[in-house]
Amino acid sequence: MKSPRKIFEPLAIGAPRPYLELPSKLERMIHFVPPHIEKLRAKAGELAGQVDVVLGNLEDANPIESKIAARDGFIAMAKATDFGSTGLWARVNALNSPWFLDDMTRLVGEIGDKLDVVMIPKVEGDWDIHFVDQYLALLEARGGLKKPILVHAILETPQGVNNIEAIAVASPRMHGMSLGPADLAASRGMKTTRVGGGHPDYKVLADVTTPGAARLSAQQDLWHYTIARMVDACAAHGIKAFYGPFGDFSDPDACEAQFRNAFLLGCAGAWTLHPSQIAIAKRVFSPDPGEVAFARKILAAMPDGSGAVMIDGRMQDDATWKQARVIVELAKQVAAKDPEYAALYQL
Ligand code: GLV
Ligand code: MG
Repeated sequence: MKSPRKIFEPLAIGAPRPYLELPSKLERMIHFVPPHIEKLRAKAGELAGQVDVVLGNLEDANPIESKIAARDGFIAMAKATDFGSTGLWARVNALNSPWFLDDMTRLVGEIGDKLDVVMIPKVEGDWDIHFVDQYLALLEARGGLKKPILVHAILETPQGVNNIEAIAVASPRMHGMSLGPADLAASRGMKTTRVGGGHPDYKVLADVTTPGAARLSAQQDLWHYTIARMVDACAAHGIKAFYGPFGDFSDPDACEAQFRNAFLLGCAGAWTLHPSQIAIAKRVFSPDPGEVAFARKILAAMPDGSGAVMIDGRMQDDATWKQARVIVELAKQVAAKDPEYAALYQL
């Protein structure tokens, strides 16, 4: 076991010291860009004004023959674009792939000072994070970087789900985790070809009350268990949980419902793979103005957060005061970035 005194020491001579507290950033949507496509790269500046995080995707969904072009394209895009306060992330190739080493060496070496987070696919356990942690420290030291690059794990294997606590706590670089429903479904042997979302056959059927009459049924959420586990592991260790991709671009309502369930359960954001999903994620992961107004009433009625009061017929106490704070703190972060929401929240 590592001594607590050693946890915040740099892992390489000359590497920046790990953050004691993670930077607090609004990350409602992590927007995926395929950086081998020049036309999309050229729009990165415009995109940075619309999303909270721009992510260059070097892994799956890139044809093998475009892997190097994606890496080169991401580096060029990062150099050419001013991202302002918008996050810049990269999803690198998996640890066992032929591209991982050069993805990391080139990204950290050439644009390490602009890169906020590397997303690591198919993380199986804390050993994967330890390796990335050490390797990043060496690269940061070589590049003379002043701030540490954070690590985000994709939860997309059964072993990763089993080891979720160990992954969450493996390094002070851990930023958070995302559900990877497509790879997770495949590696678990789930019988679905969908990328995220529900399945019409995953349902409960009401008992027979009148023989021959149609029975009510309700579709259940295939991802509830995994998301709830991920939220607990992340929240317990002060990092963030995210819904991953929703692949059916023709069904914005289902996308919104999945994102909203994740938001209500504690997730901070979701991936947006298509421009149409940006507005959905923004709407879902910004708290509802009515909820914000009610939460502010609670805070105003209980200035020191103790005791019990009734507001609009509903009991409030120390615990609901804390719930209200979660909503108001998020609303303040949204309002600081987005004047439209500042007006809606009256903040
Ligand atoms: C994402 O990478 C997924 O596999 O769903
Ligand atoms: Mg995947």
